[in-house]
Amino acid sequence: MTQIINVDLKKYDKQSLRVAADSLKNGHTVVFPTETVYGIGASVFSKDGIEAIFKAKGRPSDNPLIVHISSKDMVYDLVDEVSSLAKELMDRFWPGPLTIIFKKSDIVPLEVTAGLSTVAIRMPKHRIAKDLIEMSGVPVAAPSANISGRPSGTNFRHVKQDLMGKVDYIIEADNSEIGLESTVVDISGDTITILRPGAITIDDFKEITQNVKIDPAIVHMNSDIIPKSPGMKYTHYSPRAEVILVRGDMDCVVRKINELSKKHKTMGKNIGVMSSDEYSDMYDANSIISIGTRSNMLSIASNLFKALREFDEIGVDIIFVEAFSEDGIGLAVMNRLMKACGGNIVQA
Ligand code: TXA
Ligand code: MG
Repeated sequence: MTQIINVDLKKYDKQSLRVAADSLKNGHTVVFPTETVYGIGASVFSKDGIEAIFKAKGRPSDNPLIVHISSKDMVYDLVDEVSSLAKELMDRFWPGPLTIIFKKSDIVPLEVTAGLSTVAIRMPKHRIAKDLIEMSGVPVAAPSANISGRPSGTNFRHVKQDLMGKVDYIIEADNSEIGLESTVVDISGDTITILRPGAITIDDFKEITQNVKIDPAIVHMNSDIIPKSPGMKYTHYSPRAEVILVRGDMDCVVRKINELSKKHKTMGKNIGVMSSDEYSDMYDANSIISIGTRSNMLSIASNLFKALREFDEIGVDIIFVEAFSEDGIGLAVMNRLMKACGGNIVQA
C-alpha cells in the first residue's frame, strides 16, 4: 500500500515529512521531489530498502544508485578521499544538479553501488529533498522515480502512474523545475569527465578548469563504446510510441516531418509531433505538443520527459521530434532525445 503525503511549499511545515523521514530511516521507500526529477529513496544502510528500490523500478541490479545527502559534511563518511578538485566542485555546485563519483568507503554497501568500488553522490537543492534527508538522519540512495527504461518522473501524476502500489510513500509536490537528471561527473587528477550531461554544463565546469572531457559514449551515441556510467547503456527514456528524431535546418525539418507524418497517417497511424513554440503551428499531425521556446533551452529541458509521457497518454503510435542545438543544456536535451529514439534519426 502506498501512502500519499501532499506537501504545499506555500504553507510548508517540515513536520509534514516526519512520518516519511522516520520510515526512510527504517528501511521503507519514499518517493520525493528534487529540482531535477523525482527520486525513489531508501536508506543507504537498509538492505531491504535498497532491494525494494530495484524491485519497484524493475531496475537491472548492475546499475548503481546515486546517494543523496543533506550537508556537505556527510560526504566524508561515505568516501575514501575528497580531492581538491572534488572539493571545488562541491563548493561551487552543491546543493544542486551535480553528481560526483568518489572512491567509496567501507560503510557504503555494494548493493548500492552495484558492486563498484566507487559511489555517486549528490546534494539536492530542493527544500523537501533536503529536509527529508536531514530528518531521516541517513544518506538516501535514490534513482529517478520511474519504471526502468521509461522517461524519468518529473511530476506527481507521472510518478504515481509508474509507482503507485510499489513504494511505501509518495510525496506529492510541484513539478521538478529542471526536468532532466543531474550531470554526473568522474574526476581523475585534474580532469573532469562528464558521464551524463545535465543542467550543470561544460561551460560551468570551464569556470573551474579547462580540463573537461565528455565520455565518448555520450557523443557517439550510436557507436559500440561502452559508457562508464552503467545506466547510460540501457534503453532509456522511452515512451511506448516509436520516437523518430528529425534533424537539419528547421525549414527542412518541418517539411520532412509533415511529409513523413502524411505517409504514416495514410497507413492508419496516429501521429504526434514534439515541437518548439517557434514551429508548433506548422505541423499537420494528430497531436502537437510544444515543449517550450528555442530561446530558452531550460524550458525545453523541463518539459521534455513530461511531453513524452503525455503522448503515451494520448495514445499516438509515432512521435516525430525536432532536434535541438547541443550548446549548453542542449547537450543534455539531445542526449535524452537520442536515447529516447534509440538511434531512429532522420536527417532532413
Ligand atoms: O538527478 C538525478 O540524478 C536523479 C535525482 C533523483 O537525484 N537521480 C537519478 O538517478 O537520475 P538514476 O539512478 O536514474 O541515474 C543514476 C546514474 C545512472 O546512469 C548510473 O549508472 C550512474 O548514475 N551511476 C551511479 N553510480 C555510479 C558510479 N559509481 N559510477 C558511474 N556511474 C554511476
Ligand atoms: Mg533513471
